[in-house]
Amino acid sequence: MGAPWGWLAAGVLAISLASAVTQDVCRAPDGTNGAAGIPGRPGRPGLKGEQGEPGAPAIRTGIRGPKGDQGDPGLPGLPGILGYSGPSGLPGDPGAPGSRGAKGNPGNIKDQPRPAFSALLRNSLSGSNVVIFGTVVTNQEGAYQNNSGHFVCAVPGYYYFTFQVVSKWDICLSIMLSARSQVRRTLGFCDANSRAIFQVVSGGTVLQLQRGDHVWIEKDPAKGRIYQGPEADSVFSGFLIFPSA
Ligand SMILES: *[C@@H]1O[C@H](CO)[C@@H](O)[C@H](O)[C@H]1NC(C)=O
Repeated sequence: MGAPWGWLAAGVLAISLASAVTQDVCRAPDGTNGAAGIPGRPGRPGLKGEQGEPGAPAIRTGIRGPKGDQGDPGLPGLPGILGYSGPSGLPGDPGAPGSRGAKGNPGNIKDQPRPAFSALLRNSLSGSNVVIFGTVVTNQEGAYQNNSGHFVCAVPGYYYFTFQVVSKWDICLSIMLSARSQVRRTLGFCDANSRAIFQVVSGGTVLQLQRGDHVWIEKDPAKGRIYQGPEADSVFSGFLIFPSA
């Protein structure tokens, strides 16, 4: 490349020398224009241009492809909220019997009711045949009623009843039982007395009573005269021997 540029500079210098020489002398007419030079060689490539605007979307021309395969199942979801509790089930079968327990403490008789009474005849006799022993000596549990002469069972069980009645005359006495509204004479005791001396007629029996049963003493309407005075007392007693179910 150096050679053509060098050649051009030498040409210009030659023309300038020629002008300087001719200024002082007459001037010749200008020559005609020279023929156009041959075209220059192509210039160097320009800088890269800026990026253009995005193009308009192309028209969709493809045909819809077949449906793809099913995807993999997703991860399990979170547990749901707790539901309502259901109704109670039926009772289960009874369990096996447990082992035998330790021996219990001995029972205490003081923990049991112990009805017992004694009553004396010091009041005037009532109009009925019931002998009312109105003066209470003892009446544990309060089962003897001194206004009616009746013992009223509150604790079922076996009881012993006894009486000792003083008389100077012929006398017959009975232990009466009212059980479940049925009245019966359990035992009768008689004593004949022809000499008008103190004599005791007595009797006693064991009875099994239920709750609510009544026991009392009755005299014979014809032979029922009892001594009442300061010299001797008549007594009616009863007590629980042992309870029953
Ligand atoms: C029964 O006992 C009460 C109190 O001790 C007495 O006041 C009453 O007169 C007695 N009843 C009879 C019939 O004696």
